[in-house]
Amino acid sequence: MLYGENNKQKFHKVRGLVIGYGTRKHAMEISKYRLSRTPMKAETAKSLIESLLLDEGNSRMNMATFCQTHMEREATELMAETLDKNAIDKSEYPQTAELENRCVNILADLWNVPRKYEYLGTSTVGSSEACMLAGMAMKFRWRNQAREMGIDVDTLKPRPNLVISAAYQVCWEKFCVYWDVELRAVPVRKDQLTLDLDRLEDYVDDHTIGIVGIQGTTYSGEYDDLKGLNAFVEKYNRDHPMRPQLVIHVDAACGGMLTPFTEPELHWDFRLANVVSISTSGHKYGLTYPGVGWIIWKDRKYLPEELIFEVSYLGGEMPTMAINFSRSASQIVGQYYNFLRLGWEGYKLTHMKTLESASMIGKAVEESGLFDVFNEGNRTPIVCYTLKKNAKYEDGTPVVWNLYDLSDRLQMHGWQVPAYPLPAGAEDVTVQRIVCRADLTFTLTEAFVSDFKECLSDLKEAHVLCNEKKSGRYGFTG
Ligand SMILES: Cc1ncc(COP(=O)(O)O)c(C=O)c1O
Repeated sequence: MLYGENNKQKFHKVRGLVIGYGTRKHAMEISKYRLSRTPMKAETAKSLIESLLLDEGNSRMNMATFCQTHMEREATELMAETLDKNAIDKSEYPQTAELENRCVNILADLWNVPRKYEYLGTSTVGSSEACMLAGMAMKFRWRNQAREMGIDVDTLKPRPNLVISAAYQVCWEKFCVYWDVELRAVPVRKDQLTLDLDRLEDYVDDHTIGIVGIQGTTYSGEYDDLKGLNAFVEKYNRDHPMRPQLVIHVDAACGGMLTPFTEPELHWDFRLANVVSISTSGHKYGLTYPGVGWIIWKDRKYLPEELIFEVSYLGGEMPTMAINFSRSASQIVGQYYNFLRLGWEGYKLTHMKTLESASMIGKAVEESGLFDVFNEGNRTPIVCYTLKKNAKYEDGTPVVWNLYDLSDRLQMHGWQVPAYPLPAGAEDVTVQRIVCRADLTFTLTEAFVSDFKECLSDLKEAHVLCNEKKSGRYGFTG
């Protein structure tokens, strides 16, 4: 359904009733899809909306989302207090601009920008906006370089292209549609759900604006081999000096604020010479409520001038490159609160605990003997598995249910765990993904494991299978 469709039902009314323990305090009819003529009491409006929102999942039991579902009271208060500030208004709110600036610098440091570079970055609404900016910068930079080399960039064929593994998040498809770029997705394999470096050569040419490496894919949470990708780009650029130089953007929506703490020695970031920009979601493992994202370019030269706009700031000028103009400062404040409150040790402890929870779940999944596990949750706190072919319970009883049935069963216990098919190259494989977050306490983890085992045992006895023929997307959320 598209929002707005219901407007056609002009006379669809609901009765608003606020119960005040035994008394009918307010009763009125309101139109669902039309603005009422008259105002109502604030407490009535609040109560109506509260009851409307009751019938939703419990966000902490939503194992489908990477987005943060819990922040400390102090952070929530701070964020509520700063909702009225417009983050773009750097002149009126210079201290908010300073907090954003501090966050950009903290991230540049976490992502190891070499000192010789003049890095710059910005907050965004989330990774999607950040990826959009990264893609635009790559396209503009490629076009400028290609023009200088005498490549015809103005004819429509061939269009510029972007290379990425088929396990990309939909924001890259959006970028390519919005900016008229050909999306070249390298198929995954059933035994490797990340970027296939062996096939990369077939996908790049002189119209490639860049390659995107994913530090934590949406499908399984695994990391692309970025060191290998860097070596590929190094060699490609050496072998093709007369072509625009290939660059790498790292989509670190999931790993950008995880890997620096869990595997600080892993070279995935600006330590790799050809990585020119990195984006992340502050609302994933940055531990902030949605929506905040970040992008950093290693050096000014990777963000073409055309994409930088100046806004007034304390009587001077400040560069801005975000797409959105007005938005609340509260997410930036929340992000900075986390940096200040947790520090490096705090982030590390939080993430290690989450990894422990994920590993407990991964172990339970593995030990059931029914699944082939793609991600056991040891490296990224994401457990991803598929049902074994001809899976059998320990006593030899064959499995006659599928992962959609298991999703339904888990839902009965309040847990939201999505099942969905893998992308091109392994599309006939259905997987299930469990995303663990900081608010998944050990008590909750144990409750999940116990419910998971109970579901498996219940399904063994189940007679009704609703999802026997189900195929296609069941969906997952970022
Ligand atoms: C790899 C990847 N990139 C981009 C995104 C989009 O992130 P956001 O929801 O912050 O816009 C996601 C979301 O899950 C993701 O997993």
